[in-house]
Amino acid sequence: MSKTIVILVTLLALACAANVCKQGNVVNMPVNSKPYYFPSSWNENHTAPELQKHQSCSWTVTVPQGYYAKLIIDGKTQDTDSSFQTIDAAGNLIQSRHEKKEPYYFPPAKFTIAVTNGANPATLGFKIVWTPFPKNFAGVIAGVGHMPRIDNATNIVFESSYSTSTQVSILSFPADPKNLYALRSAMVFDGYNLQGSYMTNLYLIAKSRKQLVSSGHVITVANLEATPGSLDTLYVQDYAYTKDIHQYVELNCAAGNVTCSVSVNGGSHGKSAVVSVELRTELLTDIELEDTATLSIYGGSPNDMCFIATYNSTEVKAALPISTMGWGNQYVISHGKAALTFNIH
Ligand SMILES: *[C@@H]1O[C@H](CO)[C@@H](O)[C@H](O)[C@H]1NC(C)=O
Ligand SMILES: *[C@@H]1O[C@H](CO)[C@@H](O)[C@H](O)[C@H]1NC(C)=O
Ligand SMILES: *[C@@H]1O[C@H](CO)[C@@H](O)[C@H](O)[C@H]1NC(C)=O
Ligand SMILES: *[C@@H]1O[C@H](CO)[C@@H](O)[C@H](O)[C@H]1NC(C)=O
Repeated sequence: MSKTIVILVTLLALACAANVCKQGNVVNMPVNSKPYYFPSSWNENHTAPELQKHQSCSWTVTVPQGYYAKLIIDGKTQDTDSSFQTIDAAGNLIQSRHEKKEPYYFPPAKFTIAVTNGANPATLGFKIVWTPFPKNFAGVIAGVGHMPRIDNATNIVFESSYSTSTQVSILSFPADPKNLYALRSAMVFDGYNLQGSYMTNLYLIAKSRKQLVSSGHVITVANLEATPGSLDTLYVQDYAYTKDIHQYVELNCAAGNVTCSVSVNGGSHGKSAVVSVELRTELLTDIELEDTATLSIYGGSPNDMCFIATYNSTEVKAALPISTMGWGNQYVISHGKAALTFNIH
């Protein structure tokens, strides 16, 4: 056989090996509780196989009551308009072009996966595992008042319910802002327990930089898989105090005499806040804010009980450096863009 023929045969074999897929697949939990793989010949110990160009595919995956599904995707798309998408039971959409097996978690009753690629081939392999919700969850049932409640978000498996006199506001902060994935296993339900309607997960809340608010007095957070050693946090408040705060940004910097800066932007009329989840002394050494804006400092949620001081734009410059000792401090900017610099000991 000539070299050309060998190459041709090899190319043909490769072309045939690339996978195709279709719209409208339905995947139910197998009775033997084995994982579901696409393609069926793939598993997570192999590199993702090629997906032919011009594919447009979808899978509706059902999740029985009492179970959750864990999805890992390995794949990469090559065109700008190609993507992997997932939509959970509450309609939250996540879109990406490159997946590296960081797991997603889905509650009942279903979720969808959609994949499109254009003129270029992609790679794609995914795996779905169905697991019963943990039994005998650890966790707390806590009332939250003028002080925020700060709990670990992902280092143990738990189910915790939080109540306030109005509605409940939750925020979540990754310990490492570049690595939010552990927060995906923590689901949020509107109500007293997992029977409440599923709202979102702590990963999506952290990405949004916005509070998630319950419809009633109680919200439930359940972390389904532990990430030992993780310092991701869950920050719970009474929405009565936080209604007008449009953006929350964590003051996330290592302790030990470091300088760290954080920028916020609540828009032309909205408040924004820098929030800390540590017990420590924080020294505000510099601040830039709009001339007509103010800074208010609270040793907790923004209310009269936690109030420390308010400064207008000229007063704050004169008062620097400003030292605040506390747990869960909040630095609230009345409106506009602001940049705050801290020194943390
Ligand atoms: C993947 O490799 C690990 C470690 O060798 C093994 O425990 C696991 O069973 C493998 N998974 C599959 C689906 O083959
Ligand atoms: C969070 O986890 C750390 C490390 O396990 C522990 O020291 C700390 O007490 C926990 N915090 C809360 C509020 O439970
Ligand atoms: C903190 O760092 C500054 C400058 O890097 C240094 O001058 C100061 O002595 C340090 N303070 C402490 C308590 O280490
Ligand atoms: C800030 O307040 C002081 C009075 O405490 C006032 O003199 C000053 O004009 C105010 N500055 C701005 C920018 O409003």
